[in-house]
Amino acid sequence: MRPHTQKVAVVTGASQGIGAGLVDGYRKLGYAVVATSRSIAPSDDPDVLTVQGDIADPAAAQRIIAAGVERFGRIDTLVNNAGLFLAKPFTDYTADDYTAVTAVNLAGFFRITQLAVAQMLGQNSGHIVNITTSLVDNADARVPSVLASLTKGGLQSATKSLAIEYAARGIRVNAVSPGIIKTSMHPEDSRPALAALHPVGRMGEVGDIVDAVLYLENAPFVTGEILHVDGGQSAGH
Ligand SMILES: NC(=O)c1ccc[n+]([C@@H]2O[C@H](COP(=O)([O-])OP(=O)(O)OC[C@H]3O[C@@H](n4cnc5c(N)ncnc54)[C@H](OP(=O)(O)O)[C@@H]3O)[C@@H](O)[C@H]2O)c1
Repeated sequence: MRPHTQKVAVVTGASQGIGAGLVDGYRKLGYAVVATSRSIAPSDDPDVLTVQGDIADPAAAQRIIAAGVERFGRIDTLVNNAGLFLAKPFTDYTADDYTAVTAVNLAGFFRITQLAVAQMLGQNSGHIVNITTSLVDNADARVPSVLASLTKGGLQSATKSLAIEYAARGIRVNAVSPGIIKTSMHPEDSRPALAALHPVGRMGEVGDIVDAVLYLENAPFVTGEILHVDGGQSAGH
């Protein structure tokens, strides 16, 4: 059997939007990629393994990591990108909203990250990137969304906590905190108003987030960082 020298990234929420951009970005960097979401289609690229599953289900997390190790022999990076965003006034959130958002954003982070870290510890190196939202550090009265802050804020704290827990064992943990990015999450007619929420006066592109994740990938002295890619939102208005 040939030695597994090619690095491997796992990307959740990889069927569209930022996740699909991350798959392309890691492939251009030469990584093999395990791309997962509920509906993801098979890939023609032999270095992209697609695995379908609901990331909120711990058994799916187990299947995703096991499939990646079986096919490519190692896991170097996990990007926790799958996420649900529901903006509503606090008292309008339903119990189902709470269950859905916490399932994907928190449960969907927890088990797969445990499994990835366990694999990385055996390799003495690894990198976790959590995709959060600029609203965590920059609440905006025009976009009430406490479930985003509750869950992605937790991810930002967990980013620092895990960065410190594993700093001396070769595993880095970072986050990218996006402003509003042009994906199918935002219908065309909503975009002018969303652009105006950013000091730079425009929305971000998928490539802006991919570039930020790949910067972190290539930055061995950076861990515990929350990198804001938000058109200035976190600096003020
Ligand atoms: N777009 C923005 O403006 C923006 C701003 C700040 C932060 N973010 C964050 O960036 C990340 C990606 O956003 P995006 O705009 O690219 O989202 P998107 O276009 O809505 O894509 C979401 C991805 O997550 C997958 N997904 C959703 N529920 C899932 C589940 N239960 N299990 C597994 N996969 C699931 C979807 O695929 P399936 O349907 O096939 O499962 C899809 O691939 C999210 O964490 C989001 O919160 C986005």
